[in-house]
Amino acid sequence: MSTRLSLQEVASHNTKDDLWIIIHGKVYDLTQFLPEHPGGQKIILKYAGQDATDAFDPIHPPDIIDRYLSPDVCKGEVDVEALAAQPKVESEQDKKLRLARENMPHLTEMYNTFDFESVAKNVLKPEAWAYYSSGADDEISMRENHNAFHRIWLRPRVMIDVRDVSLETTMLGKKVSMPLYITGTALGKLGHPEGELVLTRAAHATNVIQMIPTLASCSFDEIVNQAQPDQAQWLQLYVNSDREITRQFVQHAEKRGIKGLFVTVDAPQLGRREKDMRVKYADEAPTEMEESGVARDQGAARYISTFIDPSLSWKDVDWLKSITKMPILLKGVQTADDAVIAAQHGLQGIVLSNHGGRQLDFAPSGIEILAEVMDRLRAEGLDKNFEVYVDGGIRRGSDIFKAVALGATGVGIGRPALFAMSTYGDAGVKRLIQLLQDELEMCMRLMGAPTVQHITRDMVDIRNIKDHFVASPFDHLSHSAYERMVPRGLAKL
Ligand code: LAC
Repeated sequence: MSTRLSLQEVASHNTKDDLWIIIHGKVYDLTQFLPEHPGGQKIILKYAGQDATDAFDPIHPPDIIDRYLSPDVCKGEVDVEALAAQPKVESEQDKKLRLARENMPHLTEMYNTFDFESVAKNVLKPEAWAYYSSGADDEISMRENHNAFHRIWLRPRVMIDVRDVSLETTMLGKKVSMPLYITGTALGKLGHPEGELVLTRAAHATNVIQMIPTLASCSFDEIVNQAQPDQAQWLQLYVNSDREITRQFVQHAEKRGIKGLFVTVDAPQLGRREKDMRVKYADEAPTEMEESGVARDQGAARYISTFIDPSLSWKDVDWLKSITKMPILLKGVQTADDAVIAAQHGLQGIVLSNHGGRQLDFAPSGIEILAEVMDRLRAEGLDKNFEVYVDGGIRRGSDIFKAVALGATGVGIGRPALFAMSTYGDAGVKRLIQLLQDELEMCMRLMGAPTVQHITRDMVDIRNIKDHFVASPFDHLSHSAYERMVPRGLAKL
């Protein structure tokens, strides 16, 4: 029987040297753990003696406390009804966000990916918007990902029977409704209380594949349990410095029926994302608790990434192959040279990606290098049974068409799915995918390509792909949805 504690009792343990907090109705003594918390001390200090569930949930897997802390830090339980009955003071900011949510446009008014992004910008909590929307350094690669598609023009063919157009295709053996999947993105609960589960359900409803992220807010099993029996899911893997943890995770995923393992290879360290750092996930601690020597938090990205192994190398491929029979693909390949090495290692494919422009600024966009990657793979005789995907910057059906024309098996979308999820939940993500389907269908019809197999390289003009300028009409949608970076001295975010 666990001890029942009153809220007053918990509230009295509110100092650095005697610190209790409540998470999901349970009371934990975190005094000893405080200096070791990977996210820094400030965020824990902020909730000393109080309920920290809402701050805890988006960025921790639900079972993390049981896994990492000894059972005796749990002091007992509080009466959850008393906790819920506690008067909540709505901050000015929360009020503003609540009103913004109440006044969101109707879902049927969302016509494109940027509509969702613009609404998300108004209704997301600042830390969520900062984490999702930020890119590395000056965010040049992040914006380039979208711009690069504007340097590819189309060569439409006419007088082709396009009464029936089919978008169906196959990815790693799974038949899907279109050449698109929802890629793995971390911390789904920052945007929606149900986090990644929303994406699981919408992926099923639209018959596209969801890639489950290692750093999901929901646990891996929760996400797999949410899937339907006929639904295919992939896993995005961050390799842990403790290889045993990775081995167990991968083997568990295989047992649970995951159909593809996508090992992230572009993030030995997470990039500098200044919007995220400025908002600082951990807010300020109350001043009386301020203490010199308390590490300043560096934003959600740093917070969650401490375990990623920077020593991962080509030498580890054999080990990865030895622990699983799942197809293994590398996510984050950025040159034709590495694409060739991946294929030579007998892997099943790659994702050309610069991690949504969140890692190395001035890394090329996946779409820019796709054609040269395919040429090299063909020249080396390595293009058979090797699937090449692209993510980053896909915002229109025509973007998907261009990627497929240049040889991609399919494309991944990250932020668009997060923004649709964070605003309109399940219905939002379904509508987003439906819109992209409608756009792709229209593009294929106008291009004279009735099936995905009819989308060929000669249908696109990539002569300008290497020129990093866009001499085309100004792109208002993207420009107004994009939040400008502000230097510290000018204004607060
Ligand atoms: C990121 C990691 C966690 O980009 O994938 O934030």
